[in-house]
Amino acid sequence: MSYVALYRKYRPQTFDEVIGQDHIVNTLRNQILQDKISHAYLFTGTRGTGKTTTSRIFARAVNCPHAKEHNGNPCGKCGVCQTVGTANLDIIEMDAASNNGVDYARDIREKVQYPPVNGRYKVYIIDEVHMLSTGAFNALLKTLEEPPAHALFILGTTEVHKIPATILSRCMRFDFRLVPTPLLAEHVAKIYDAEGKEYTREAVAAIAQAGEGSVRDCLSIADRCFSVSSGKLTYDDVLSVLGVSSKNSIVALAKAVFNNSAADILTEINKLVSDGKDVARLNKDLSLYVRDVLTAKVCANANGILMLPQDVYNGLKEIADGVSVAKLLYAIDQFVNAETALKYALSPLMLFEATALKVAASTGEVDCEGLDRRITRLEQLPHNLRSDAPIVVDKTDPRSIWRGVKVALDRLDDALLSGVWSDVKVSFDEARNFVVTCSDGAYLLVEQKYKKRLLAEIGAFCDNNVVIRCDETVSQGEVDKILNALGKNVKIDG
Ligand SMILES: Nc1ncnc2c1ncn2[C@@H]1O[C@H](COP(=O)(O)OP(=O)(O)OP(=O)(O)O)[C@@H](O)[C@H]1O
Ligand SMILES: [Mg+2]
Ligand SMILES: [Zn+2]
Repeated sequence: MSYVALYRKYRPQTFDEVIGQDHIVNTLRNQILQDKISHAYLFTGTRGTGKTTTSRIFARAVNCPHAKEHNGNPCGKCGVCQTVGTANLDIIEMDAASNNGVDYARDIREKVQYPPVNGRYKVYIIDEVHMLSTGAFNALLKTLEEPPAHALFILGTTEVHKIPATILSRCMRFDFRLVPTPLLAEHVAKIYDAEGKEYTREAVAAIAQAGEGSVRDCLSIADRCFSVSSGKLTYDDVLSVLGVSSKNSIVALAKAVFNNSAADILTEINKLVSDGKDVARLNKDLSLYVRDVLTAKVCANANGILMLPQDVYNGLKEIADGVSVAKLLYAIDQFVNAETALKYALSPLMLFEATALKVAASTGEVDCEGLDRRITRLEQLPHNLRSDAPIVVDKTDPRSIWRGVKVALDRLDDALLSGVWSDVKVSFDEARNFVVTCSDGAYLLVEQKYKKRLLAEIGAFCDNNVVIRCDETVSQGEVDKILNALGKNVKIDG
């Protein structure tokens, strides 16, 4: 007999055998028990989580005369249940990926009018329905709007966002979830038991974890592991099948990262890569490992979840004890981001090395106090300083010009420059000079560069000549005294 893949051999035949989708199968079962069957269903969710399987079970259950006696499951013994594939004229399965045209949808529309041959319902299972063309969707919509009483549509898709709202609103929608790892492990164990394959608990846990929530993926891996050893399947066997970077090297790399040892990081990465390890895979393995470290850090019963061999777990725990949760979260964030970036990177190795070094060097903590100080400082700045809107002045009005100059000076963020000019008078004299009169010339001229600066700023706002003058109340002598005290030698204009 030819070999049948495990996932096909163990395709559930009843609702009871479907794992991890209780919320869906219970509803469907109840609809059968209560004769409350709708005309259109939409099954969405990730690949390999049971959409097609459940469609087929439901299709048989609605037509099986004994379903109610079997708690809503197809009985598996009657003529309806035993006629499989195309031989069952009442169950029409089509793949929208290969029949996506409008003609096909019209064909359905015509043929659905003919009553079922054996059962109560004529069931159309349309898989990958998101592949239908717009025309085909419209034709299908017509059928969904006025279906004959015996029609039942089950649409399946992994990409529900591509389904028009008009179709969605006419279907009862069920979202298939990723199946939790422990359920996957139990499932694989049951199948291995049925096949007479021996295994360790850790081996099966590793298979389940690699399935990442998809039953089909998980069973494909289980299939590959099946024949890797003739005896008892071990954790290491599974790792060798998965091509996971030898756990020891990953542990060494993780240690180097969390000890912030740049030299070790680069050495370990180099070792793995020269052993032929793919950088993207390495990044993924490392992030999975960090996730496990996080689990060990925050969960009391971590190995109940991780199900790792004890020595592997001990190594993990040791790393977990020496690193903060914040840093672990930061690390996961960085490696997950790198996963996408690696796909487009011209030099994946460099990107991965940089990411590892960055994680190593960071504490992972946001410096909240520092951030707070900076925000407070920003908030205290005058409004005009925070803005960089253009300054508009009325060039015929000296006070308007001066206001513009002040704003410009404030923006220079130099306390001396902006503070000094507080007490000045401005005017145009007979010769149309722009005259700035300071009550305290000493301040104005503390440093020559401030005067130059002031002249430059005023020049930007007025087209006239500028004269800076000291108030009469301050004598040249007094100013000189102050200037001498400051060790400066500057002359005052005016
Ligand atoms: N919830 C489940 N319980 C038990 N077995 C499952 C489940 N989901 C999937 N499987 C297994 O995986 C195989 C494929 O499942 P199925 O074809 O139903 O997936 P699907 O959700 O339709 O995937 P796709 O999106 O790729 O079409 C089945 O033959 C079965 O062995
Ligand atoms: Mg499918
Ligand atoms: Zn039956």
